[in-house]
Amino acid sequence: MNMLQNFLMSKLHLGSQEEVPKVLEEVTVEGVVNYIKSGKCKNIITMAGAGISTSAGIPDFRTPGTGLYSNLEKYNLPFPEAIFDIEYFRNNPKPFFVLAKELYPGTFAPTPSHWFIRLLHDKGLLLRHYTQNIDTLEHVAGLPADKVVEAHGTFRTSHCLNCRKEYSQEWVKEEIFKDSIPTCTECSGLVKPDIIFFRESLPVRFFQLMQSDFPKCDLLIILGTSLTVQPFASLVDNVPAMCPRLLINREKAGTVDPMMAMLQGMFGSAGLALDSPNNIRDVALLGDCDEGCVKMAEFLGWKDDMQALLATTKK
Ligand code: OAD
Ligand code: ZN
Repeated sequence: MNMLQNFLMSKLHLGSQEEVPKVLEEVTVEGVVNYIKSGKCKNIITMAGAGISTSAGIPDFRTPGTGLYSNLEKYNLPFPEAIFDIEYFRNNPKPFFVLAKELYPGTFAPTPSHWFIRLLHDKGLLLRHYTQNIDTLEHVAGLPADKVVEAHGTFRTSHCLNCRKEYSQEWVKEEIFKDSIPTCTECSGLVKPDIIFFRESLPVRFFQLMQSDFPKCDLLIILGTSLTVQPFASLVDNVPAMCPRLLINREKAGTVDPMMAMLQGMFGSAGLALDSPNNIRDVALLGDCDEGCVKMAEFLGWKDDMQALLATTKK
């Protein structure tokens, strides 16, 4: 396969990226570390998913066995994602509220991955943190609200699906914890926390900041996500063509098939080029996110700062 690719590439000049200046001296974790240390990397964007919170005791969605979608039998759903599907919810909101009670944010502590993102902020390097998570752990870790984009919404506010009346977190939480379905006091419509369900639009702020942030990005760090849900997954394609991308995850995610990557070389690529022979900027630090983040802090010479932040959780 590789031979065929290389042959086609050399004959057809497909996938040639000669025009793109290299940013990393070597396409390795060390290359990324040296780039950050060089001072040329001033604007880091982090993108995260459920994998950064699993060590806090919150399951992810798609890991076979432990992921939420493998553990929803008791709800008798037609398909696992139905629990977060807006049309399903309108007819049968009970499963979502039972789960919401179980996973209600606020009872969990940030993980070393969250503290690493906070450390990037403390070092003045974090342009923005884009998260798919609704557990609010980035706030608990002390990231200012303006640095965080909660792409899949938040539990902080709720709205009636019918008349759009807004409800406070306290009111909805009380309803959820007494096992009743939150219902609008004005029109008896269903009240839903403002987390984004499938088939709903992402918050306006996501699209606004995405447009201004990504062209400025010097390094994208992707943590703990399978990069399967759109439009979030496509954010990786919004950075400049030479911008390095570091994936810290248990498995490779968001990669394009090497043959597709080669063909897309002509038209601009989609996804991470980890397995592409043309790869000049994508690096994977595979394994546990927390371990990866602790290692990154050490490599960057920030071991003591990281220890100090980690101690915050242990107190
Ligand atoms: P997924 O469950 O799809 O992916 C989690 C990723 O993190 C997987 O690649 C895991 O291998 C990896 N992972 C889990 N624990 C890890 C750990 N401790 N260290 C390193 N890697 C780890 O979760 P998301 O990508 O966040 O949306 O899912 C995206 C969206 O799908 C969610 O926001 C949610 C869901 O449906 C909505 O509900 C709208
Ligand atoms: Zn209403």
